[in-house]
Amino acid sequence: MDKIIIDKEKCIGCGRCVKDCVDAALYLEGGKAKRRKSCIECGHCFAICPVGAVDMPGYDTRDCGEVVPLSEIDSARFLQGIKSRRSMRQFKKRPVEPAKIKMILEAGQYAPTAKNAQNVAFTVLTSRRAEIERACVKFFRAGVNAGSKVIPSLRDSKIDDNFFFKGAPLVIVVSGYDSVDPSLASAYMELMANSLGLGVLYSGFFRACTILNPRIKARLKLPFGHKVVTCMIFGYPAVEYKRIAPRKPRQARKV
Ligand SMILES: Cc1cc2nc3c(=O)[nH]c(=O)nc-3n(C[C@H](O)[C@H](O)[C@H](O)COP(=O)(O)O)c2cc1C
Repeated sequence: MDKIIIDKEKCIGCGRCVKDCVDAALYLEGGKAKRRKSCIECGHCFAICPVGAVDMPGYDTRDCGEVVPLSEIDSARFLQGIKSRRSMRQFKKRPVEPAKIKMILEAGQYAPTAKNAQNVAFTVLTSRRAEIERACVKFFRAGVNAGSKVIPSLRDSKIDDNFFFKGAPLVIVVSGYDSVDPSLASAYMELMANSLGLGVLYSGFFRACTILNPRIKARLKLPFGHKVVTCMIFGYPAVEYKRIAPRKPRQARKV
């Protein structure tokens, strides 16, 4: 099925889609836009067309909604919001509402991906969560135990039963073929979650378990070839931070 269809009755031949096409896949002929080859299906033609002449069958366009430029949001407050983000390690028991989970997943889904591959997968841990955390705890405790024989400081490490997911009500594993796209998706998800009043923690130790122990990774049943890039835990914060924590000096340079 063709993924981009231009309705020649509706097309007014303005050429905006042609000029904006990243793949040079469109051209004008007889005052109408036409498609010469397949493309990355980025949707720029769909988005830019002033008369709605472009259709993308196979994509659920009902999900898109109206365009809201982020420039409508006060930039200084937006930046303060970004700077106010904190890793959250203490959560209330209150579950995260399904509508909020959907918004977090959509924020990840709409993050940019290279070549518009959209290959990032979002695995919400539900029925297998406890079993997966137990396996991680067992594996990590054994590793720390063995390691403490050569690194004495490891003897102070406390790996409790909630070490990986901190008792948070929502855990989402973000995976992909490389790290860049899932990382970008994760950052979008975190900010979305913050805007919904939720706290977030990246469980890097969980990711380490999936890299070091293929049997733990297998329990996630990820799409073939995917690796875990982040494991994000979400919930209503049980603590409130009053100030923005300082950062090291920026490594902003000019060459
Ligand atoms: C990729 C990544 C993995 C992380 N893994 C863990 C983790 O396993 N456990 C944890 O307590 N914090 C983890 N963190 C949180 C960092 O320790 C945290 O970002 C750092 O302490 C700075 O605090 P802030 O995020 O509140 O600014 C992780 C953060 C990132 C970005």
